Amino acid sequence: NKGKYKHYMQKEIHEQPESLTTTMRGRLIRGGACKSKTVLLGGLKDHLKTIRRSRRIVFVGCGTSYNAALASRPIVEELSGVPVTMEVASDLVDRQGPIYREDTAVFVSQSGETADTLQALDYALENGALCVGITNTVGSALARKTHCGVHINAGCEIGVASTKAYTSQIVVMAMLALAVGGDMISNEARREAIIDGLLDLPSKVKEVLKLDEEMKDLAELLINEQSLLVFGRGYNYATALEGALKVKEVALMHSEGILAGEMKHGPLALVDHNLPIVVIATRDACFSKQQSVIQQLHARKGRLIVMCTKGDSASVSVGGSCRVIEVPHVEDCLQPVLNVIPLQLLAYHLTVLRGHNVDQPRNLAKSVTTQ
Ligand code: UD1
Ligand code: F6R
Repeated sequence: NKGKYKHYMQKEIHEQPESLTTTMRGRLIRGGACKSKTVLLGGLKDHLKTIRRSRRIVFVGCGTSYNAALASRPIVEELSGVPVTMEVASDLVDRQGPIYREDTAVFVSQSGETADTLQALDYALENGALCVGITNTVGSALARKTHCGVHINAGCEIGVASTKAYTSQIVVMAMLALAVGGDMISNEARREAIIDGLLDLPSKVKEVLKLDEEMKDLAELLINEQSLLVFGRGYNYATALEGALKVKEVALMHSEGILAGEMKHGPLALVDHNLPIVVIATRDACFSKQQSVIQQLHARKGRLIVMCTKGDSASVSVGGSCRVIEVPHVEDCLQPVLNVIPLQLLAYHLTVLRGHNVDQPRNLAKSVTTQ
């Protein structure tokens, strides 16, 4: 039932304040002697010690689920102190890459039925790793075969393009970082700030969704383009990949997410006055580096669309010439949840304007159960 919406993708984008609320329900609690807030993930509580002691955490997924894991990698590394490596499921299987008993392998999949991810899971189980699942689907093969895990509880996702599952996956992995990070005094203030940020997310997501009309206008401007680049770094490298994946898979427009730190190592050659480029430059430790990226793209006459923190338009818009998308600020590790939403809206409106099928993109299936 699409209610007042024309498409499931549109409905699922707009229901993110609610889906994120359900994802967090009952999992952020006031506890401990000092009444500080803590995270309780029922599915992981008996395994936290093992995860903390593991030599490495390996994130495994495909497509959007891989991107969600990538977005969460920095905070998991920061709070757990355990090195995190990333694996595209099919590539791990192709390489038969090393997985050890001392590893924790975390499998991320909305459907829990993706063949590549399940094959990688079998492989990690054979190699003796602790296998953790993060899925939206209770009773799925992933949920059954992993040793433990977390249901993201985002509600059923029907549109082939994953939207609300992506933001809920990031929130679950941020909670996983908090749970694995435990109660180290050294990062207590950081943990409190993240928990406050989580509790604030639904209202900030509502605020971002007000950009809908603005994203429709932007889509009208981009309707006939051949290609769109998206530059991000740090926490928002994943946002660049995920924004580009949405545009590519539903609007059927070539789009590429680029790690901004790699700009001078090739992508800069593409920049001219025709090619539209989205640069994600919200406030975090990478902000000044992104400002310099903007200046360099501007110097090559790049057609820039800059995503920045509310109030920062003047400091990102060189010569007042670029289009700006302003988003609210939230704790850095949660910013990807907000930043992806304008790009989801852009992909949606581009698809409608270009006359393509929104909920069933050409050649794609919701759950990829074959290889
Ligand atoms: C569970 C209940 C929830 C109830 C809550 C109350 C289920 C599915 N969840 O939620 O209805 O409100 O307790 O305390 O009944 N698991 C895996 N692999 C996965 C995902 C999950 O093994 O990929 C396992 C978990 O380790 C856990 C179980 O499935 O043993 C349920 O996980 P989850 O729903 O995340 O646990 P709770 O949030 O505690
Ligand atoms: C993108 C998309 C795909 C899936 C991928 C993994 O919008 O839907 O890239 O993310 O096929 O699917 P799950 O998460 O079900 O394993």
